[in-house]
Amino acid sequence: MLRNKTIVLGITGSIAAYKAAEIASQLTQAGAKVNVIMTEEAIQFISPVTFRAITGRPVVTEMFDLASEFSIEHVSLAEAADIVVVAPATANIIAKLAAGIADDMLCCTVLATKAPVVIAPAMETNMYNNPITQDNLAKLEAHDFVIIGPAMGWLASGKEGLGRLADIRDIIGNICQVLGRGGELAGRHIVVTAGGTQEPIDPVRYISNRSSGKMGYALAEGARDRGAKVTLVTAPTSLPEPVGVDVIQVGTAQEMRQAVENVTLRADALIMAAAVADYRPIKAAKDKIKKGKVGLTLELEGTPDILGTVKGNFIKVGFAAESSNLVENAKGKLKQKGLALIVANDITASDSGFGTDTNRVTIIDREGKIDSLPLLRKREVADKVLDRVAKLLPKPKSRRPNKI
Ligand code: C5P
Repeated sequence: MLRNKTIVLGITGSIAAYKAAEIASQLTQAGAKVNVIMTEEAIQFISPVTFRAITGRPVVTEMFDLASEFSIEHVSLAEAADIVVVAPATANIIAKLAAGIADDMLCCTVLATKAPVVIAPAMETNMYNNPITQDNLAKLEAHDFVIIGPAMGWLASGKEGLGRLADIRDIIGNICQVLGRGGELAGRHIVVTAGGTQEPIDPVRYISNRSSGKMGYALAEGARDRGAKVTLVTAPTSLPEPVGVDVIQVGTAQEMRQAVENVTLRADALIMAAAVADYRPIKAAKDKIKKGKVGLTLELEGTPDILGTVKGNFIKVGFAAESSNLVENAKGKLKQKGLALIVANDITASDSGFGTDTNRVTIIDREGKIDSLPLLRKREVADKVLDRVAKLLPKPKSRRPNKI
């Protein structure tokens, strides 16, 4: 998503300015070209040398830098930008932008750009809550600026409150989402499931499947980055919730079924990457089952087949984790569950499947076309699946981007 994107990162004079180094680093590592603009106050907090080293690019600190490679800087930076991000943004820069003041390089660039602008405020709680700041932020929002945060927590004053720079994960996730607006899934609603459902035996124990949830989370982020509205129905995982995605946490297969039926009412596609437990105890014990001297026999019943039974005007994509006869078994499931695509993976391969960041999959469609992909990162697999989903969706009537 960020590869080859040109991003202006504006840094202003907040104690959180040091966090901009991490933002610049993550964006650069993801392949973006990061042009940093620092206000005079920002360079009191962190040196431009840091950003020069992190981004490998010149850092703009003055309005008129005759040695700079940028021609009329605010114009060339503003024009080249795919997105402008101001993080951290002080009350001062927010006020200046709201008033249309252009007395420094950052304000000039923001006012001169046609690219989307993302603002991540960071300031003391009282400054943030002040109605003047709130009015200024509302004005920027009304002009389509995307405001991220601030977050609650420890502030430079030693107090706890609202005003901390939003989490870097939040900022980067929002940048991806904004860049993806108007992408090929704009105006679409994609539902993704992830994680292994947990079927209780008693209040402490459960039956589950091995699943990290990584494949489903990668699909949710991938669909978001193509402009889709995404709902992720997830069984418990240890992953943080993806940014810019509606997340519904569920426990059991029955809960997942209910959630999927509710959210697919207006969906364009359902992609089920969840490892749904196939069996559940007929009755979960109310109290913890005591450890006895003899073994324990559990009586199990089948869980509902969510993908096989959910109905609606959307395309269905399934996953099949197989340990033998990969293609044959996957084809059977595709037919039986009425799927448009099935993504099969061989779980006997050590680099593929459970818990790993990589997956080696075979995508099979309704026509029986078999596409065996090489070992790829899960996000790359997600992108391949989404390429196919985008092609399978019927042409939309309108392509209005989803509002962020
Ligand atoms: O478990 P199985 O290999 O049949 O899973 C194939 C597909 O069906 C997967 O996409 C899985 O998420 C889905 N599934 C389901 N409900 C179940 C079992 C599996 O939706 N009870």
